[in-house]
Amino acid sequence: MLELRNLKKSYKEPDGGELPILDVPRWSVDAGEQVVVVGPSGCGKTTLLHIIAGILRPTSGQVLIDGWNTAILNESERDQFRARRIGYVFQTFNLLPGFTALENVQLGMAFAGRGHDRKRAISLLERVGLGHRLHHKPGQMSVGEQQRVSVARALANKPKLVLADEPTANVDVGNQQLVVDMLRNTCRDENVALILVTHSPAVADQFERVDLLTDVNLVAKQKLEEQDRDVLQG
Ligand SMILES: Nc1ncnc2c1ncn2[C@@H]1O[C@H](COP(=O)(O)OP(=O)(O)O)[C@@H](O)[C@H]1O
Ligand SMILES: [Mg+2]
Repeated sequence: MLELRNLKKSYKEPDGGELPILDVPRWSVDAGEQVVVVGPSGCGKTTLLHIIAGILRPTSGQVLIDGWNTAILNESERDQFRARRIGYVFQTFNLLPGFTALENVQLGMAFAGRGHDRKRAISLLERVGLGHRLHHKPGQMSVGEQQRVSVARALANKPKLVLADEPTANVDVGNQQLVVDMLRNTCRDENVALILVTHSPAVADQFERVDLLTDVNLVAKQKLEEQDRDVLQG
């Protein structure tokens, strides 16, 4: 359902040069498949998720999702595509502060043109253990509770693909497994593909497929090899 082909991303440097970040010849994820992506800080994990989600555009290459190449869509087309087919759990939640937990989840549906399925929104919040926090605003909730709202929101629009960027990093230890279970079980039940970035071996070990971005991304692979060489040469 997802296939990246010859994907490259570089950033313009202040001096006008190009700083390469991603070079992924080929990488794919099947419908309903669950994949963990791991790799050291700075190896391009967040950039990769942003490109798959259409938040960022690649410098070149194809991002095929259900046969659509989103790399050629303009920003508003990518926004619409994302709203309808992709759920995103941001590292920093990105909840709307003026709205309650329930409203935040329902807004995710409204952007996707799916109306306000209040029952589904409540049921998703109950599944992350927030049935008693429906009418609280983000500022009235703990950081872990906010992350759980953002997980419910990512699943609200019945996506085909969920991208989760370190979804347990800011959640208290006691609730981390709840977040992982919620993502995995809902994605499995609804045949949604899941790509989850994590630094936690306890989380990664639960997945059958764990991909190292330093294998997948040739820019990160090269950087790692250079570091190893430097260490060997003292
Ligand atoms: N807007 C930007 N402009 C220039 N460089 C950036 C920008 N965003 C990220 N980078 C650089 O891209 C690299 C990869 O970042 P990121 O994808 O956030 O890595 P990770 O999520 O694996 O820690 C880092 O070296 C970072 O400094
Ligand atoms: Mg990151």
